[in-house]
Amino acid sequence: MAIQKILRIGEPSLLEKSSPITEFNSAWLDALVQNLWDTMAAHRGAGLAAPQIGVNRRIVVFGFEHNERYPDAPEIPLTVLINPQIELLGEAMDEQWEGCLSVPDMRAKVPRYRQIRYRGLNAQGEAFSREVEGFHARVVQHECDHLDGVLYPQRVRDLRTLGFREDLERSGQLETQPCDD
Ligand code: NI
Repeated sequence: MAIQKILRIGEPSLLEKSSPITEFNSAWLDALVQNLWDTMAAHRGAGLAAPQIGVNRRIVVFGFEHNERYPDAPEIPLTVLINPQIELLGEAMDEQWEGCLSVPDMRAKVPRYRQIRYRGLNAQGEAFSREVEGFHARVVQHECDHLDGVLYPQRVRDLRTLGFREDLERSGQLETQPCDD
């Protein structure tokens, strides 16, 4: 296990645009992928982007089969996504609660596109694409935003929804299981 420190909002490098991955089948990339999985698992996250552990390269990991933090969320295959591109499949958006391991203990309602197609490379450098919707689409948009230096508070439409998870839950505003990364 190589659990890494997760950078938090206020750290300037989280706002940088990350550069593509160009080398595959390397010890460096293997270690980065393992560190992302280990760090995500340690925090029971649904996803993690490399900039969050201080590596400004275009790679994210996400997915879970059953996550106790999101008991009602649909399963998402465990995925390594490198140099991703997102194509919108329609203009429709949904607004749902999100959190982020780089914005600890907080939640807000974030609008995201409902249906997307994403493409990129897996850990072996092989191309793949998927058409997804709903929670899966939300997680991918959240993670890929990190690669462009965007944190979810920048996407919040109504900042009155931003609050501490504990207080949002106690006051009955936070009902659904939020998307965390
Ligand atoms: Ni995040």
